[in-house]
Amino acid sequence: MSAIIHAENLVKTYISGDTATRALRGVSLEVEPGEFVAIMGPSGSGKSTLMNLLGLLDTPTKGTYRIQGVDVSKLDDDELAEARSREIGFVFQSFNLLPRTTVFRNVMLPLIYTLVPRAEREERVLAALEAAGLEEALHYKTSNQLSGGQMQRVAIARALVNDPSLVLADEPTGNLDTKTGDHILQTFHRLRDEGRTILLITHEPEVAAHADRCLHIRDGLIATDERDAA
Ligand SMILES: Nc1ncnc2c1ncn2[C@@H]1O[C@H](COP(=O)(O)OP(=O)(O)O)[C@@H](O)[C@H]1O
Ligand SMILES: [Mg+2]
Repeated sequence: MSAIIHAENLVKTYISGDTATRALRGVSLEVEPGEFVAIMGPSGSGKSTLMNLLGLLDTPTKGTYRIQGVDVSKLDDDELAEARSREIGFVFQSFNLLPRTTVFRNVMLPLIYTLVPRAEREERVLAALEAAGLEEALHYKTSNQLSGGQMQRVAIARALVNDPSLVLADEPTGNLDTKTGDHILQTFHRLRDEGRTILLITHEPEVAAHADRCLHIRDGLIATDERDAA
């Protein structure tokens, strides 16, 4: 089986107090390695919930999820964390960087809990910064010396430092102006061309147009799944 993502009938119900929210109501999805997939849908339709499940940040109420052929329900917490750090890079709308800390240290962060030797860590940070288009800002501090576009590049570099096969991005251009957002999207194109798989949530059709395939989520279900003819 070659799919990187193989999800069958994923259901996610959040329980808080007496209320149950059915955020996903049976999502089935296959994604092949190297696909660039946009996920669209109204606010509250379940996009982030789906991304959290696919990114191993949360577990489904029902359904099965295999990543690279591995059924994740068979993994314990340590194995999940290990699979997450090996396979997946996350990019969020709000960047989620450590403030008052250098670009270098922010990108190094995912490697701190690994056994990667120091010299190799530094090499990997430099390679990730180069892939994200940000070598020049190595020693800048994140909170006062970077623009929004540069902060998102730091976040992308941090997502790449473990060389993930799957990059998950939740509204990565949502806080950026159009021109800066376009540059960030060019970076995602490059990552796809390197053979990585990309899932990108957006509510902007112009952003989704960059993808090879577009899923529309409505009320916790995939409403449409369209591949670009080109
Ligand atoms: N941790 C949570 N606890 C309870 N309800 C949640 C939680 N996360 C999301 N929801 C609810 O699940 C539904 C889907 O949310 P979400 O996946 O964040 O949608 P989207 O990303 O498309 O805006 C919404 O009704 C939301 O309020
Ligand atoms: Mg969301």
